[in-house]
This record gives sequence, structure tokens and C-alpha cells, in this order.
Amino acid sequence: MLYETKQTTLLGLRTPEQEYWELINGNYSFSEALQLLDKINWDFKDFTTQYLTHKFHSYPARFIPQIPLTFIKLFTKEGETVLDPMCGCGTTLVEAFLNNRNSIGNDFNPLATLISKVKVTLIPDAEFRYLKNKLRKMKRYLDLDYKRIDKRLSSLPNRKISRIFNRVVISKLEVIRETLLEIKEEGGHDDIYDLGRVALSATIWSLVENGGGLDVDDLFLKKINSMEKELKKMAKIVKNPPPKVKIITGDARKLEVESNSVDLIVTSPPYVNALDYYRVHMYNMLWLGMDFDLFRKHEIGAHSHFIYNRFRLLSEYLGDMLRAMIEMNRVLKNGKLCVIVVGNSSLEYELIESHKFFAEMSKFIGFKPIRTYFRNIDKTRKYTSADIGKIDDEYILILQKIADSDETADNDDFIADVVTQQMTKFKKQIEKVQGTSIRGRRPTKERLLKNIDKIEEAIQYIREDIKIKR
Ligand SMILES: C[S@@+](CC[C@H](N)C(=O)[O-])C[C@H]1O[C@@H](n2cnc3c(N)ncnc32)[C@H](O)[C@@H]1O
Repeated sequence: MLYETKQTTLLGLRTPEQEYWELINGNYSFSEALQLLDKINWDFKDFTTQYLTHKFHSYPARFIPQIPLTFIKLFTKEGETVLDPMCGCGTTLVEAFLNNRNSIGNDFNPLATLISKVKVTLIPDAEFRYLKNKLRKMKRYLDLDYKRIDKRLSSLPNRKISRIFNRVVISKLEVIRETLLEIKEEGGHDDIYDLGRVALSATIWSLVENGGGLDVDDLFLKKINSMEKELKKMAKIVKNPPPKVKIITGDARKLEVESNSVDLIVTSPPYVNALDYYRVHMYNMLWLGMDFDLFRKHEIGAHSHFIYNRFRLLSEYLGDMLRAMIEMNRVLKNGKLCVIVVGNSSLEYELIESHKFFAEMSKFIGFKPIRTYFRNIDKTRKYTSADIGKIDDEYILILQKIADSDETADNDDFIADVVTQQMTKFKKQIEKVQGTSIRGRRPTKERLLKNIDKIEEAIQYIREDIKIKR
């Protein structure tokens, strides 16, 4: 684990992790730090990525901690503020916290912000004793009224229910849920209550992942114990008082963050057409009583609509990302960096190089693209982007804020103009060569040629499609 690699090994031999650690712990000027980025092997092959509170909960397409860590170490000082406007399970926030930087995490997914909060909240021993005491008494609730279980069953989606969520599993989950609710009702134990909810969600995730067959209460109790252990380790690394963390469940296109207040942004947005987060998290959110409908409506990159013309998804996505980038520009201090990690995706056999679109659009809103690094994703690792949308590489786009954006994120005309320009350029590219992202069976030439008409149609709809749905 990185935070234990400070000592050198016998014979003075250093592992790649130790070398990396030494590199990022030096003192550098801004331009030295920029040059140093070229020396980093961004694949981070065989590095440990699941340490400390990063282990708490799976999350699709999370990035590896070494990406935010590198930028936090090289481009901020202790006490400065790091933002991730689409923080997912809080990877950036954990690294900021471990390195005594203040942080702000924003995500529209309430499960994401819950996980993020729990990963960066140190909890006193007395609270763990209180929770464990409650859990010991939990057994008495096992005598459940089955009518209630049937009611719960009927409120869950049918898929997978019978195999994974059988009556025994449901009744045990219900006991845990009720015990947690009791803690909430007693009041004054918010942090341990939230930790319990994340443990419950992680338990449900393991059940779905493994197709059932696991002992629910055993899984839950083990999760609580391991979370306690990791938080204790973390408490030893972080200075006292710990850095400040602000977590917001909100829209990256309209950030509730003060202008010119942030020293660094590191984020990875959703990929166009890759994954609907609300679907992945539907089960967990239902058990935690969270409303996933609102999130579904505002999720960037979701792909359950525009099925007859997927290129309309692209213009919608570019509009959403442009708004989010204008907000990133607004909250960032002048001269500071905004790092966006994103992979390529594919629409109707055409390659979508999102990082190139972002770099181009950034120039209209006060950013200067200064570096792009390519990295291979370790495909053997679960829940990295490799699992999602056949993505096996990603790009690290580094933008520097050189001016305040003249445009605001709610200026529909400006958004439509920039997206039209990008889509027109994209159409010209496709007119030259089609099928840039064919994997597996080749589609017919006629089918590929239709893409040009579809892109033209998408361009006609841009003014409508980029509007924020309310
Ligand atoms: C690739 S994931 C981020 C993963 C994160 N870097 C991590 O390590 O966990 C993209 C995130 O964008 C979030 N998202 C989607 N639409 C959003 C919106 N309108 N505002 C804020 N976040 C949004 C999703 O909920 C998801 O958590």
C-alpha cells in the first residue's frame, strides 16, 4: 500500500511503487511539476489500488487513486482545496483527505455521495461500540411478520429477485435495515448510521455480484469490522484536526460552490453511451430508501433514450459536459489545473474520442489544454472503466484556467453553437471514413453510410437536445 511504502527495502532496491512515492513527494515549482508528469507511467501496472477506505464499496468506472494523488501532491499544498464535481465513490476526496487537503465532492447520485462521505469521516471508538451493541441485539428482530416481507418483495423489480433475494435474504436485510433505522431515530449518531448504510449497500452489492448464496448477516458484520479497521489506519495518517470535507448531492452543471475558490479539480465524467449508473445502483438505492428517479433524469451520459438515433445522445452529452466544464472554470482559481479522465466510447460503430471534444470545447471557456496522457486500463481489475462499454484505455486531459469564462452554464444559445460546431466537425470526419470503432461482426456498408444522415439529423435537433430536462 502506497502510504506504507515510505521505507526503502533491503539492499536499497526500490519497487516501482516506492519510486513513484518518492517522485511525487519532492518539492517542485509549477513548471517542474508539469515536466515531471511526462516521467510518470500512467498505467500504474500492478500498483495496489484498493487500500484504506477505498475498499469500502464497489463503484463502476471509478478511477485509480494514483491519478488524483499525483495531481494533489504535485499541484497543491496542505490546506488548499481540491474539487471533484462528479466524485462517484469519492476516490479524489480520499486522496485529498489522506494528504491534508480540504476537499469538495459533488455527485447527483445520492448513493455516491453517501459512500464518499463515509470514506472521509473518522468515527470515535465509542460510536463503533454503540453500533456493535445494537447489532448484537439485532437478532431479536428476526421474528418478522412475513406480510411485511411480501410487501417489500412486491416493491422491488422482478429481475434477479427469486434467485438472489429469496425470503431468508430479504428478512435478514430487513432486520439490518430496521436496526439502522432505530439508530437514526435515537438521534445523535449520524456518522455511524451512515457507515451502517454503506455496509448494508456493500452487502447487497456482494449478493448481486455473487448471485446470492452468501450469509447476509455474516457479510454485513464482517464489512463493519473491516471498515472500522481501515478508518483507524486512516486516522493515524491524517493530521489532527483533519482537513475539511464538503459533500454535495447536486448537479455538476450547476455547482453549489463559490467562484474562484478551488485550487485543483480532478474528475472523471460518465462516458457517452457507456453505463446508466441509476440502473446499476437501483437495488442498493431502493434498500436505502433513496430516490433514483431524480438522478435518472439528470444523469449525464445515460443511454436509455434516443434509441433511433444514437448520435443525438452525443450532442446531448457534449452540451452537458460543456455546461459542467463552464462550472469547473467558474469555481477554479486562475492559473490552476482541471484534470479530466475519460475513455473513448463507441456509437453506431463510430469511435467517440471524448477527450478531443473536451479539449476543443475548453478553449471557448477560458481553459488552455496543456497535456493529454494515454493510459492502458488493467482489464483484469473489476469495476474499472474496462468493464463498461468495452473501454480499455483512457485519457488524462489536463486543462489550465487562463481566464474566467465569458459564458455561463445556463446560456443555451452558446451551448448549442459550440455543440453544433463540434458535431459538424465530427460529421466531416465520418464522411471521410466510417466505422472507426468496429469490434466483432462488420456491419454492411449501407448501414455505416446511414450514420452520416443520422449525424445530420442530430445536428438539426441540437437546440432541442441540449436543453436541461426538468
Ligand atoms: C466515472 S464516474 C466517477 C467515478 C469517480 N471518479 C470515482 O473514482 O469513484 C461518473 C460519475 O458522474 C456522476 N454523474 C452523472 N451525472 C451527473 C450530474 N448531472 N451531476 C453530477 N454527477 C453526475 C455519476 O453518478 C458517476 O458517479
